[in-house]
Amino acid sequence: MEELQYELVDNVLRAEDFIHLKAAVGMIDRPLGQVEKALRNGLFHVSAICDGKIVGMGRLVGDGAMYWYLQDIIVLPEYQGKGIGKNIVNRLLKHIKSTAIPGTKIEVGLTSVKGKEPFYEKLGFSIGATGMRLWIEIE
Ligand SMILES: CC(C)(COP(=O)(O)OP(=O)(O)OC[C@H]1O[C@@H](n2cnc3c(N)ncnc32)[C@H](O)[C@@H]1OP(=O)(O)O)[C@@H](O)C(=O)NCCC(=O)NCCS
Repeated sequence: MEELQYELVDNVLRAEDFIHLKAAVGMIDRPLGQVEKALRNGLFHVSAICDGKIVGMGRLVGDGAMYWYLQDIIVLPEYQGKGIGKNIVNRLLKHIKSTAIPGTKIEVGLTSVKGKEPFYEKLGFSIGATGMRLWIEIE
């Protein structure tokens, strides 16, 4: 089977795309103004784009020094199971590693939707008492 061609692009996601992606996977609907502010106030976001269409996204929120949280990791249902979600999370982790203070130990957290924990475990996260966590020593 031919490999799916897509690219990951930083910080181009529009609020309308975000709302569309959330709706496509049955996540809670949010008003446009709230989503616009959320995107502005977050640390970083990445979009997966296939043939000009946004097919996936992921966001980082947090303080950019000690704590980062993965939010809204979404791949459209018809594009799931092709490695896009994994690449989105790895892109977010790469951003963290390139912007955190060298020589520090940092914590990446997330709250997994029930049943999606194995997806994050494959990416290095562990299930803790208060959600999923990944500790990284920044070189
Ligand atoms: C969770 C989600 C982002 C995964 O994206 P995806 O593109 O389908 O995942 P990938 O194809 O990159 O999968 C990466 C690996 O995780 C595994 N995986 C993915 N979802 C899994 C699940 N629910 N249970 C077990 N393993 C899973 C894949 O089999 C793959 O394993 P491999 O690397 O050994 O081949 C996607 O299913 C999604 O958008 N779901 C709806 C929204 C959602 O629930 N988001 C999570 C919010 S916490």
